[in-house]
Amino acid sequence: MKTAIVTGVSRGLGEALARALLAGGFAVTGIGRTSGAAPNGAHYRFVACDLTDTTDIDAALTPAFRAIADARPEFLCLINNAATAGPVGTIGSLGSEALTSSMAVNLVAPVAVANLFCRVFVGQTRGQTRAQIQRIINVSSGAADSPLPGGGPYSIAKAGLEMLTRQLAAEHDAATFRAITVRPGVIDTDMQTFMRSQTRETLPSIDLFKGFHREHRLVAPETVAAKIVDKLILGDVEQGRTYNYREL
Ligand SMILES: NC(=O)c1ccc[n+]([C@@H]2O[C@H](COP(=O)([O-])OP(=O)(O)OC[C@H]3O[C@@H](n4cnc5c(N)ncnc54)[C@H](OP(=O)(O)O)[C@@H]3O)[C@@H](O)[C@H]2O)c1
Repeated sequence: MKTAIVTGVSRGLGEALARALLAGGFAVTGIGRTSGAAPNGAHYRFVACDLTDTTDIDAALTPAFRAIADARPEFLCLINNAATAGPVGTIGSLGSEALTSSMAVNLVAPVAVANLFCRVFVGQTRGQTRAQIQRIINVSSGAADSPLPGGGPYSIAKAGLEMLTRQLAAEHDAATFRAITVRPGVIDTDMQTFMRSQTRETLPSIDLFKGFHREHRLVAPETVAAKIVDKLILGDVEQGRTYNYREL
């Protein structure tokens, strides 16, 4: 059975991806602090894991990853989707505790989950192959290469996340394995609401986010999820590449 592992399934794009994948006949393992109401059914499994607790990731996820390996899926995709936009503030104003949590969720956790994924699945491409095709999709943002005043922690982590894709592509060259980045465009989720709710003092680039909303540029998470499933999960992709929303 085709199988997907999605982080951050409580809401937003992650929840929409989990629903779209289940509707498309995938088995889905959702990872996060809480599950969304919508992903459910016999082919859905939820693993509780706070991704700020990065040292617990291996222990929390290994049993679920082993169970997936034992089911011998024909296709297996990890989507590193969970993220937080906070803390917002220019560098010099940030608290180190919030900064550390943000880096944990947005960068350390996806690297740790990808590391575990490669250990359990990708190393087995010769001989004892358990998953025939493996794919890692890192959900990034245009912020990865456009510094937005007040959005530094998020941008810095997304830039690092895109290097994770390139690193995976450089290290794993099996024809059955692909690692890619997606910059999913501007999506109508809590993350955008959070950015619009900031003050100009903490987020000097706030007009950009207000403009997305005012100009009706936000896309429904279901629309973005359907395009990601169609083009990047079911379709052929180029190893190591970054895909933008307009390409989907
Ligand atoms: N929205 C946009 O316009 C936009 C633009 C470009 C890129 N993106 C990217 O798209 C992805 C999805 O964003 P979104 O807009 O759907 O965001 P969202 O609505 O804020 O949802 C974020 C998800 O990440 C989870 N998460 C956050 N902190 C977590 C933690 N400590 N442990 C486990 N899970 C945690 C949340 O779970 P909780 O409910 O537990 O917090 C939630 O399920 C992110 O990678 C984001 O950077 C979004």
